[in-house]
Amino acid sequence: MKQSSPIAEPAGQNLVKVISNLCFSVFVFAVLIFTVIAITYKSPDPWLESAPAMTNFFTQSENATFKNDNSILRTGEDLQLSQGPPAPSITEASIERVEGKISELEPACSEISPGSVNCSDPRVLIAIEKFNLRAFRSIAFLEYQTPVGGSKLDECDVAWRFRNKKEKSWRKYRDFRRFKIGIGENCTYRVVHPGGWHSGVNARRPRIQSSAKPSALVRDNEINDTIPTLGSGVDFRKGRYLYYSRGGDYCKGVNHLMWSMLCGLGEAVYLNRTFVLDLSMCLPGTYSTTGKDEEGKDFRYYFDFEHLKEVASIVEEGEFIRGWKRWDRTHRKKVPVRKVPTYKVTPMQLKGDKRTVIWRQFDAPEPENYWYRVCEGRAERYIKRPWHAIWKSKRLMNIVTEISGRMDWDFDAVHVVRGEKAQNKELWPHLDSDTSPESLVAKLGGMVQPGRNLYVATNEPFYNYFDKLRSHYKVHLLEDYKELWGNTSEWYNETRMLNDGKPVEFDGFMRVAVDTEVLYRAKIRVETFYNLTADCKDGVNAC
Ligand SMILES: *[C@@H]1O[C@H](CO)[C@@H](O)[C@H](O)[C@H]1NC(C)=O
Ligand SMILES: *[C@@H]1O[C@H](CO)[C@@H](O)[C@H](O)[C@H]1NC(C)=O
Ligand SMILES: *[C@@H]1O[C@H](CO)[C@@H](O)[C@H](O)[C@H]1NC(C)=O
Ligand SMILES: *[C@@H]1O[C@H](CO)[C@@H](O)[C@H](O)[C@H]1NC(C)=O
Ligand SMILES: *[C@@H]1O[C@H](CO)[C@@H](O)[C@H](O)[C@H]1NC(C)=O
Ligand SMILES: *[C@@H]1O[C@H](CO)[C@@H](O)[C@H](O)[C@H]1NC(C)=O
Ligand SMILES: *[C@@H]1O[C@H](CO)[C@@H](O)[C@H](O)[C@H]1NC(C)=O
Ligand SMILES: *[C@@H]1O[C@H](CO)[C@@H](O)[C@H](O)[C@H]1NC(C)=O
Repeated sequence: MKQSSPIAEPAGQNLVKVISNLCFSVFVFAVLIFTVIAITYKSPDPWLESAPAMTNFFTQSENATFKNDNSILRTGEDLQLSQGPPAPSITEASIERVEGKISELEPACSEISPGSVNCSDPRVLIAIEKFNLRAFRSIAFLEYQTPVGGSKLDECDVAWRFRNKKEKSWRKYRDFRRFKIGIGENCTYRVVHPGGWHSGVNARRPRIQSSAKPSALVRDNEINDTIPTLGSGVDFRKGRYLYYSRGGDYCKGVNHLMWSMLCGLGEAVYLNRTFVLDLSMCLPGTYSTTGKDEEGKDFRYYFDFEHLKEVASIVEEGEFIRGWKRWDRTHRKKVPVRKVPTYKVTPMQLKGDKRTVIWRQFDAPEPENYWYRVCEGRAERYIKRPWHAIWKSKRLMNIVTEISGRMDWDFDAVHVVRGEKAQNKELWPHLDSDTSPESLVAKLGGMVQPGRNLYVATNEPFYNYFDKLRSHYKVHLLEDYKELWGNTSEWYNETRMLNDGKPVEFDGFMRVAVDTEVLYRAKIRVETFYNLTADCKDGVNAC
């Protein structure tokens, strides 16, 4: 380290400094321009909006001019990517076809007795299906189970699978409700009163039906995120693996993490190799209650491992290491490995390598040790990030569905970004005042009808901050639903099982994931930037 004071420094040295600073600025600017061009020519990518690839680069290195919006986490399911043929949904026409067949063997009115309903009568289901179609227009109903009796003679409980038409992924969810059934004109059934979200508890558990496909029904309720094993029967040597050592991305923000992980997965696809996935994640301090980085968080708390297993070729790191060691122990010849010390070796240069393991090591100092650097530059044209492979954890999505369901899918939402950005008056001069309670009331007044359900997705930690809105709207905050992850919840039970029986905390990262998805299900969505404030998303002069 040089110790001389700036005053004593010779002029020449200062000049060198100035020049090198200047050079760096030019370099940064060139990279910026290049990245903008590169990004502009890429396929659909959620990063287009805020271009956080640049963001990350700058926030991690020099004086940051951009800041990531870490109150939103987008994953593959939020993107407009085609995801195979959708399951056919139930329509008025398909109901009428079934109805036509039934009415041919129309039983007499005598079979229908008021006050008690035979729930397995197919006409009951038809009445419910028709009712649902009218009541929930944003829902695509995929399949129903035969109704079963409710708690009274004129009640039926029925379960169905559905998806929200607004959602881009074809992931299915379940609901089961209790309906009070009455007799209409001409001995037809009609729904007198529909129950609320998940009210039809008798229909909750799928009954094993001999005729229907029981496996398909059961599977939808269970999450199979067991770690596939590399059995000892597997010929490790014959596999082709791409192994990334832990890099500087560990413990970084969610968006950084996604960007890096997708780079690795993308390279694996490009090289036609199995990606070695480390399921142990680090929760950065910005999302933890302690404010410190927390290690040992399971990937499956946040992401849908079952889906990833299905669509990508991956192996869990522990399994991979065990398989590798087992091979080396039992064979005279070691597994061939190509160690790649720097990201500067491009994926294209590795394409022809036939060795069993390609091991990218990320030992250089930051920011040279970020995974995503592998996908920069020329590689960007060859590697497609497989966004479709990363979905949010279904356990979190069940919470999202539950929250939306409790508002009967009929709600508007506002995304209120505060936190660090609101405090940074230099980059976001008006954000704080534009998201003040008074300002929110005034601005939302023009966009959301009074009396509506209003979901507020926010990183504002103070619960009562939005109280002023309550006299105008039915305000819902994530915190209002805390029993969904409390110690009596399904989520609590299930995540505990992933954690050797120890309770899992519902952390800031999960909050962001749930908030994001509820926000996307709203009928009217009011964004902070450009709806509530004229400040730019990425800071002064960035829009
Ligand atoms: C950029 O660096 C300068 C000088 O160190 C500092 O005064 C300024 O606050 C920094 N800007 C940001 C946004 O951090
Ligand atoms: C209810 O309806 C189903 C189907 O029409 C029929 O098989 C069953 O016998 C009926 N049960 C009673 C108790 O009427
Ligand atoms: C009931 O039946 C009568 C005679 O068949 C018919 O005119 C009437 O439209 C029917 N009502 C309904 C609601 O289907
Ligand atoms: C869960 O998935 C694994 C493959 O990842 C499969 O081998 C196993 O049979 C599945 N278990 C169930 C209960 O479906
Ligand atoms: C990818 O690898 C598998 C075996 O690892 C091989 O069967 C397949 O032909 C390869 N595909 C391409 C396009 O190289
Ligand atoms: C659940 O949490 C509440 C308060 O947080 C506590 O009083 C209760 O004992 C807990 N129940 C279980 C089963 O852990
Ligand atoms: C969670 O597990 C406990 C004990 O295993 C059980 O009593 C409880 O019913 C479960 N709760 C849910 C919502 O599944
Ligand atoms: C928010 O702003 C966008 C872009 O200006 C606009 O398209 C959208 O309609 C606005 N939303 C509302 C609820 O006014």
